Amino acid sequence: MNITSKQNIIVTGGAGYIGSHICKALAAENYTPVTLDNLSGGFEKLVKWGPLEVGDINNKIWLTDIFNKYSPLAIIHCAGLISVEESTKKPEIYFRNNFHATEILLDAMRKAGVKHIIYSSTASVYGNVTENVIAEKQITSPQNPYAESKLKAENAIHKQPKEQNDFSAVILRYFNAAGADDKSETGELHNPETHLIPLAIIAALNGTEFTIYGDGSVVRDYVHVSDIANAHLLALKYSISNNGVQTFNIGTGQGFSVIEVVRTIEKLSGKTLNLKFKEPRAGDVPKLVADVTKATELMSYKPQHSSLNNIIKTAIAWHQMDSLTINTTL
Ligand SMILES: NC(=O)c1ccc[n+]([C@@H]2O[C@H](COP(=O)([O-])OP(=O)(O)OC[C@H]3O[C@@H](n4cnc5c(N)ncnc54)[C@H](O)[C@@H]3O)[C@@H](O)[C@H]2O)c1
Repeated sequence: MNITSKQNIIVTGGAGYIGSHICKALAAENYTPVTLDNLSGGFEKLVKWGPLEVGDINNKIWLTDIFNKYSPLAIIHCAGLISVEESTKKPEIYFRNNFHATEILLDAMRKAGVKHIIYSSTASVYGNVTENVIAEKQITSPQNPYAESKLKAENAIHKQPKEQNDFSAVILRYFNAAGADDKSETGELHNPETHLIPLAIIAALNGTEFTIYGDGSVVRDYVHVSDIANAHLLALKYSISNNGVQTFNIGTGQGFSVIEVVRTIEKLSGKTLNLKFKEPRAGDVPKLVADVTKATELMSYKPQHSSLNNIIKTAIAWHQMDSLTINTTL
C-alpha cells in the first residue's frame, strides 16, 4: 500500500550530509523522501522532509517490508561508510556495508518490482590520475578499500539480470561534496569529521591549530552539496525515461588547492588560521578535477551554487549555527 498521496522516493542514508540535502530537494519537487538509515553516521535531526525508518540496509526482510509499505518510484542509495582511513584498518566492514549491502538492496528492489536506482559513487574510484580533467571513460584504479567497495557496488549495479528490461540505474561519481543548504536547514555533520573545509572552518571559529598535509598544493574539485542534490533530481528524470545503466561525474570542472581553500576561509570568516604543516599523506592524489561534459549534455546538469565563495559562505553559516559537538581530533 502506498501510504502517501505523493510519489515516494526511498533515500538510503537520508539522515546523512548529502542524503539530507537530497531529501530537501525531493520535497521541493513534491516527492515524499522516505529516509532509510541506521543512524551509524547520520543524525535524526537532519531528517526534516519526510518519514524516517531506522534500520540497516543489510536486512533484506526489513527492506522488503519497507518497499511494500511505501511502493517507492525509485531508490536513491547514499547509505555507506565514508572514511578512507578507517577503510584501510577495517576493509571487511567497508566491503560488507558498501558493496554487499548494495547487492542486498538490488535484490530487494528486484523482488519488489522497484525499477530505478540512483547510486552515490565517488571520484576516488579513478585513483591516481595524471589527466588534467577526468572523464567517465577514464580507467578506474581504486587505491583504498573505501574506493574499491564503491566500485564493486557500481559493478553489482551493472550486473543486474538482463531480463530486467525496464531496470534503469544512474551512477553519480561525486567529486568533493562541500558547503551547506543556503538556509542552514541542513549541513555537513560527520563524527569524526575528516573533510578539509569543515575542519578548517571549525579550527578558524575555535582558534585552534589546523594541520595541512604536504605543502597545500593538492587540488580538488569542490561541488556544492545543493548542486549534488539537484543532480539527483536530473538523474531521477533521466532514469525514468532511459533504460540501462549510465555513469556521470558530478563536479564543477574547476579545481582549487588546499591553500586557496584555506585563504578563502580566512577571508570569509575574518579569522587567521593557525597553520601547521605535516608530511603528505600516503595515497593523496595531487589533482582530481571532473570533466562534467557527459552530465551536461545528457542530463542538462549545470552547477549553480558551487563558486568557492558560496561553498565556504554556506558552510561557515552552518557551522556557526550548529550546536552539536563535532570531534575534530581525528
Ligand atoms: N561527502 C563526500 O564528499 C562524498 C564524495 C563522494 C561520494 N560520497 C558518497 O556519498 C554518500 C553519502 O556521503 P555523506 O558524506 O553524506 O556521508 P554520511 O556519513 O553523512 O551519510 C551516510 C549515511 O548512511 C547511513 N548508513 C551507513 N551505513 C548504513 C546501513 N548499513 N544501513 C542504513 N544506513 C546506513 C549513515 O548513518 C549516514 O546517515 C556515501 O555513499 C559516500 O560514499 C560522498
